[in-house]
Amino acid sequence: MKAYEIRDGFGLDKLVSCERPDPTPGPFQVRVRVKATSLNQRDLMMVEGRYNPRQKLPLIPNSDGAGVVDAVGPGVTRVKPGDRVMGLFSQAWMGGEPSRAAQTSTLGGPLDGALADTMVLHEDGVIATPAYLSDEEAATLPCAALTAWSALVTYGGVKAGDTVLVQGTGGVSIFGLQIARMLGARVILTSSRDDKLEKARALGAHELINYVTTPDWDKAARALTGGVGVDHVVEVGGAGTFEKSLRAVRIGGTVSVIGVLSGGAGTVPLTPVLMQNLRVQGILVGHRQGFEALNRALTLHGVHPVVDRVFPFAEARAAFEYLKSGAHFGKVVIRVG
Ligand SMILES: NC(=O)c1ccc[n+]([C@@H]2O[C@H](COP(=O)([O-])OP(=O)(O)OC[C@H]3O[C@@H](n4cnc5c(N)ncnc54)[C@H](OP(=O)(O)O)[C@@H]3O)[C@@H](O)[C@H]2O)c1
Repeated sequence: MKAYEIRDGFGLDKLVSCERPDPTPGPFQVRVRVKATSLNQRDLMMVEGRYNPRQKLPLIPNSDGAGVVDAVGPGVTRVKPGDRVMGLFSQAWMGGEPSRAAQTSTLGGPLDGALADTMVLHEDGVIATPAYLSDEEAATLPCAALTAWSALVTYGGVKAGDTVLVQGTGGVSIFGLQIARMLGARVILTSSRDDKLEKARALGAHELINYVTTPDWDKAARALTGGVGVDHVVEVGGAGTFEKSLRAVRIGGTVSVIGVLSGGAGTVPLTPVLMQNLRVQGILVGHRQGFEALNRALTLHGVHPVVDRVFPFAEARAAFEYLKSGAHFGKVVIRVG
């Protein structure tokens, strides 16, 4: 099989193509011929050694892959050769509460991931690809889409008429926009670039704020809700945005803590959290049950993921550099098969 692995240390320079023996699926395992993989900030951080500097190497990066089952081991009943599937981000989180096993069974670190033409996974660790999606589109779902779904639906309880604020126009946030629209919510979206704001408007965002030219975007968001505050913030900015998110949300509202794009450390003002009865909910992607519900909803509404660019397998490094540049809108994908 062909793959990329992080070898001999971290950094994009250490991401090298390699050949490994073609794996045979064991009991309850399935072999997936990967057709496409998408990139998440986590994958870039993993390659650069910023996610887990103690990660054992070599490692095949990337949590998200979609492809076709071509062989199954003894005892497999959930899938058969020819089925189109996606890998679960967390191989051991089927539903309910998260666990240590759920946290430590994630693809693309610590387990080998999807930047390869072949993956062998437990049959429980794959999920059927919605028939109407291409493999490139499906490869965007396991991390970013499920994270937005967990934030807004599994833990968020967002309902029609609510106002949701999403930050930026990366993978999680654009899925946040699409899912919030599906739920019948009003969406306020922030971005550093006016051209991206226009693209978001075309996707259905109701209100747009440039967070560079309007640094007090929290006040602008409050003003857009008549001074009340938004019901839910999809918080991906981290240290540089969290405090403003607390100010943008209404009394009793929810801030879903998802990302740390501007840093993961900082002081947390506790008084507004308690005085405003806020709910600050940490999100770590999500479980298979949530993924199944997400797929049903996407299928029912015919929603297509927003794929910004598709890179060939040979240009994996360029794909990571493109993600790092922040020029993308939605998802960056690598075609594998
Ligand atoms: N907890 C989880 O389960 C989970 C799952 C997935 C991702 N994440 C995390 O969530 C974050 C976003 O991930 P992603 O894959 O969606 O990233 P991404 O696709 O690379 O999105 C990056 C975009 O975020 C926006 N952004 C950057 N800095 C910002 C800031 N200070 N304030 C507001 N927006 C900012 C920018 O949008 P504009 O160019 O429009 O300004 C940028 O293009 C990352 O920190 C990632 O690690 C966490």
